[in-house]
Amino acid sequence: MWTFFKSIRTVRDISFDAAAKLMRVDCREGEVGWQDLTRTLLLYGPPGTGKSWIARAMGNSAGFSVVTGTFGQWQAAGHLGDMLREMRRTFSQARAQAPTVLIIDEIDAVGSREDRDRDRHNHSYRVQVINAFLAEMDAVAREEGVIVIGTCNHPDLIDPAVLRAGRFDMKVALPLPDADGLFSVFRHCLPDLREVDLRDLAARAVGCSAADIDAAIRQTRAIARGQKRDMTLDDLRQVFILDHDPAIDRRVALHECGHAIICAALNLGPVRRIFLNRDGGGGTVFTAREKPGLLSDLQDRLTQILAGRAAERLVIGDISAGAGGSADSDLAQATMIATSIQTRYGLGAQGPVWTADPETLIALDPDVLFRVRRELEAAEKRAVQILSVHRNLLEEMAEALMASRDMDRTEAQDWLARVRHTAPDDDHNARPAPQPE
Ligand SMILES: Nc1ncnc2c1ncn2[C@@H]1O[C@H](COP(=O)(O)OP(=O)(O)OP(=O)(O)O)[C@@H](O)[C@H]1O
Ligand SMILES: [Mg+2]
Repeated sequence: MWTFFKSIRTVRDISFDAAAKLMRVDCREGEVGWQDLTRTLLLYGPPGTGKSWIARAMGNSAGFSVVTGTFGQWQAAGHLGDMLREMRRTFSQARAQAPTVLIIDEIDAVGSREDRDRDRHNHSYRVQVINAFLAEMDAVAREEGVIVIGTCNHPDLIDPAVLRAGRFDMKVALPLPDADGLFSVFRHCLPDLREVDLRDLAARAVGCSAADIDAAIRQTRAIARGQKRDMTLDDLRQVFILDHDPAIDRRVALHECGHAIICAALNLGPVRRIFLNRDGGGGTVFTAREKPGLLSDLQDRLTQILAGRAAERLVIGDISAGAGGSADSDLAQATMIATSIQTRYGLGAQGPVWTADPETLIALDPDVLFRVRRELEAAEKRAVQILSVHRNLLEEMAEALMASRDMDRTEAQDWLARVRHTAPDDDHNARPAPQPE
C-alpha cells in the first residue's frame, strides 16, 4: 500500500478512493515499518482543488488523529515568541496524539529566507520562523508516529530547505480536475444520480474546481429548499449550462487540436489531455520529451505553441485574440522563446552574447524585434503547412472534442495515431543558427 503512496504523482492517482485506501495500512500492526513509510507529503495546486480535503480524508480513513495548523493561526498568537510557542504546541500535540496526520495548510506562508526584497524589515523574523519550523520538522522525522502533510498554492514561494527531501519527501501537484475527476466529485456529492447524468454534468463543469462544484450544489439545493421542493437534475443542468456561442467553442476546439496534432507530428511528447473550459477557454497538456535544446528543438516548440493560431487561420480563415493576452499565453511563451534565441541562448544574430533584460532590448532594438517577429512568423507558417496535411483529422478531432469537452490520454492518442510524423527535413524550414553579421 505504501509503495503505492511512494509512486503517486497526479490527481488521478491520488483520487479520493486511492487516498483513502492509502492510509488504511495499520503501521501499528507492523505491516510496514514506520521507517519505510513516506511520512511527508506536499500537496500543491490552484485554490479549491481539494488539497486540504484529501489531507483530512487520508488521516480520517486511516483512523489516525488529525491535527491542523497554519502559519496564519500561529501568527495570530502575537509577536515572534508567541508565534513560535503556538507552532511548537501544534507539533507537540501531533506527537502526543500519535499516530497522527499533521496537516499544515497554506504552508507557502512560511516564505523563504532567500527572499530579501519583499518586506526587507521582516527578513530576520522570517529567518527565525523558518529555522524553528525546520527544527520541528526534523524532530518529528526522528520519532515515529507523525505524518506531515503540507498544502499550498505556490510551492515556489517556499524556502528550499523546507522542501528538500527528508523534510517533504513527496510533492504531488493537484491541478484542476479533468472530467473523470469532476465525475468523482459529483458522484460523491450526488450519490443518487445515474452515472450517465453525472458524466453529463462533469463534462459541462470542465474548468471548475471541486470547491466550485460543492458550492454550486449547496446553493442550488438551498434555492430549491426555499421553494419547498427537492433539487432536480434540471436545476443542476441550469447551473452548469454551457451557454456560449458554439462558434467560439469550435474555434477553441480547433485551436487546441492544432496544438495536439503538431505535438504528435513533431514528436514533442505524449499528449495527456485536451479540454474545453466552460468559460470559453481550453488547454492541451503534454509531457515534453527531453531535447538537447538545439535551435531546431526550439523552433519545433515554437511551431507547437503557435499551432493554435495556425489551426484557426487554416480552417476558419482568421485568428482570434485567444492566443495572446496574459503573460502565460501562447504568444507570450512563444515571444519569450524567440527572444531568448536572440538574446540569451546564444543561437541568434548576437552570437553568444547573453542579455540581462531581453524584454527591454526587444522594445528598444528594432533589429532584435524584427528577428523575433520573423522567427514567430516562420513557426506559425510551418504549423499551417503541417496542419493543412492533416486538415480532415483536425476538423474531425475538433468535433469530437466539442462533444466530449475533455479528452484523456487514451482518447487523444487514438486520434493522434493518424498523424504523420514529420521528419526534420520533410517540411522544414529549420534554418542553421544565423551567424553574427
Ligand atoms: N474529491 C472530492 N470530492 C468531493 N468534494 C471535494 C473533493 N475535493 C474537494 N471537495 C470539496 O471542495 C472543497 C474545497 O476543497 P479544499 O478546501 O480541500 O480545497 P484546497 O485545495 O485546500 O483549496 P485552497 O488552496 O484554497 O486551500 C471542500 O470543502 C470539499 O467540499
Ligand atoms: Mg486548503
